[in-house]
Amino acid sequence: EMHRFITALMSKMTLDEKIGQLNLPSAGEFTTGTATNSDIGISVKKGLVGGLFNIKGVDKIKAIQRVAVEESRMKIPLLFGMDVIHGYETVFPIPLGLSCTWDLKAIEQSARIAAIEASADGIAWTFSPMVDISRDPRWGRVSEGNGEDSYLGSMIAKAMVKGYQGDLKARNNILACVKHYALYGAGEAGRDYNTVDMSRIRMYNEYFPPYKAAVDAGVGSVMASFNEVDGIPATANKWLLTDVLRKQWGFKGFVVTDYTGINEMIDHGLGDLQTVSALALKAGIDMDMVGEGFLKTLKKSLQENKITLAEIDAACRRVLEAKYKLGLFKDPYKYCDENRAKTEIFTAEHRKIARQIAAQSFVLLKNANNTLPLKKSGTIALVGPLADAANNMTGTWSVAAQHEKSVSVLAGLKQVLGDKATILYAKGSNLTADPALEERATMFGKGLNRDARSEDELAKEALEIAAKADVIIAAMGESAEFSGESSSRTDLNIPDTQKKLLKKLVATGKPVVLVLFTGRPLTLTWEDKNVPAILNVWFGGTEAGTAIADVLFGDVNPSGKLTMTFPQNVGQIPIYYAHKNTGRPLAEGQWFQKFRSNYIDVNNDPLYPFGYGLSYTTFSYGDVQLSSTSLKGNQTLKASITISNTGKYDGAEVVQLYIRDLVGSVTRPVKELKGFQKIMLKAGETQTVTFNITTEDLKFYNSELKYDWEPGEFEIMIGGNSRDVKTAKVNWAK
Ligand code: IFM
Repeated sequence: EMHRFITALMSKMTLDEKIGQLNLPSAGEFTTGTATNSDIGISVKKGLVGGLFNIKGVDKIKAIQRVAVEESRMKIPLLFGMDVIHGYETVFPIPLGLSCTWDLKAIEQSARIAAIEASADGIAWTFSPMVDISRDPRWGRVSEGNGEDSYLGSMIAKAMVKGYQGDLKARNNILACVKHYALYGAGEAGRDYNTVDMSRIRMYNEYFPPYKAAVDAGVGSVMASFNEVDGIPATANKWLLTDVLRKQWGFKGFVVTDYTGINEMIDHGLGDLQTVSALALKAGIDMDMVGEGFLKTLKKSLQENKITLAEIDAACRRVLEAKYKLGLFKDPYKYCDENRAKTEIFTAEHRKIARQIAAQSFVLLKNANNTLPLKKSGTIALVGPLADAANNMTGTWSVAAQHEKSVSVLAGLKQVLGDKATILYAKGSNLTADPALEERATMFGKGLNRDARSEDELAKEALEIAAKADVIIAAMGESAEFSGESSSRTDLNIPDTQKKLLKKLVATGKPVVLVLFTGRPLTLTWEDKNVPAILNVWFGGTEAGTAIADVLFGDVNPSGKLTMTFPQNVGQIPIYYAHKNTGRPLAEGQWFQKFRSNYIDVNNDPLYPFGYGLSYTTFSYGDVQLSSTSLKGNQTLKASITISNTGKYDGAEVVQLYIRDLVGSVTRPVKELKGFQKIMLKAGETQTVTFNITTEDLKFYNSELKYDWEPGEFEIMIGGNSRDVKTAKVNWAK
């Protein structure tokens, strides 16, 4: 049916109109790059536009859709896209924070709500999920991904695709776009857009799985990445876009460039615009975002026999198929319902869920002497440049958000405490003492207002209120755009002027709680040693402030667990839990041995390992119980463990299963996450958790890139983080 409809449609289309479907300009209403566009209407009328992004609001979208379906010759509806990355107007935590919930239902629900709101406002297509594995916190875009692990990343990729797309026929579902395919998170030195060079075995085992998981979940589109893969930019990489994506994984949707990815291949050194546009089409790109390389050169390339009509047709068909699947040919105004726009966006219900999910994303890194939770009484000094910064709560890539409606920490505290406690507030410092650095981190107008007073004056005021308080809450760290696209850093400390202030606050001897805002793992060695309590709150979204207050005052017990390793210092990067053993590993418990794989100045350990996160209660783990220690072929191994809540509070715990393949035809990681369960335990309660393990969990890509398992000995490890695990051994024969 679809095939027939599109064949009939395409038989009437001119070459220009077909190429027009491959063109995705930006309306330039807000910035996600450098493009602006004033004469979109004229191009749409001529049939030279396939889709449009960076345009917000039903009225505007309806008006331009009307031009497409009433004034253009073929009357083909436009596809309206947007970067709906972690919520629409109701913003959820940044994806890195969301991943720390380890709650797939909550993550799916956040995508579902984002789809409901975006679709109510005219949007049919989101450029999400971003599933780039990264082990380099210098890279600013780790904030947009799900951390370092490919298993967890794959589960999240699936959950998000499901949340956005559901049944595409429905009015409140939208098309997802998995990005950035591929390996975008592995840029050298953590510098954005930088060269990637990686073995294929590593691609298949560690970096590809989340993209493949999204494809398996039926994702409708894929965005190519800016970086090169094996010496060829992803945007022109036929092996990547056609052989792997379509032939090996069976992807049936369409591929879009990331922004000017085609044009950028001129700078990569692949040729002029005509050459690189032809390369992109031939490699498997269907839609050209912003750069107009297709629009300007494909016709000429066809005349010169550099590309074929079949190649243009294939791309055009894929774009039209997406529109068909969304039901846009039946109803081009499917997403333009003013009533929905008024009633389904930024609702009390959505905000309530955002508040719950935000609280779940926070990771308690330290809590000496049970500093937290705080009492809802006495005098509290709230200090720091992030304390009263509503416009910084949503973090990176929240283009649809209305920042003034986000809840700041100060507002959240006031709301939750009412008149039970006295809150004194002082800014205490600017974000950094260096205005030029701050300026570079103010994309999308999300800078912090600089205080004209000197850093000394600001600190003095903070110390004055601290002197009157029973406890000090320091809201510090990165501003929203200190991480995110094009915000790579080489220094991962809390910016200097804030750290100085923090030291002064700690020196008062009063209990200090560091509420840490960040879009990436930071180096917190000093803080870990000296600050009594550290709650990492990432960028929690619209309801960040209320959620922070919920956790600080014990209405919610924190349960987030890190999905990216926190290094001791930048020199340890890349540092990740699923590393290889090497031929010269350190002996257990040692931190330095000559001629072993280590450093002379710090040990190999991270500051906080993958999977780590504290609770207000404590959990104790029994031993791993196995249904058998000797298995064969397709049998199922049951691995169980008993967990007790030994503290005073009810709490949730993420129980993590890791496996190590002790001997392989290729070297295997020292442990790999293969399962997890988030359980709720009342104070004093004990529960047994069981994982069913099959040979599917033992599979990996070998040096022939064949996906299979190998018989032998395996370690089964279960624990509350990747470092502290209980271990048992099994033998698994073919
Ligand atoms: O979706 C984004 C991408 O992640 C980075 N470049 C721009 C795109 C569209 O805004």
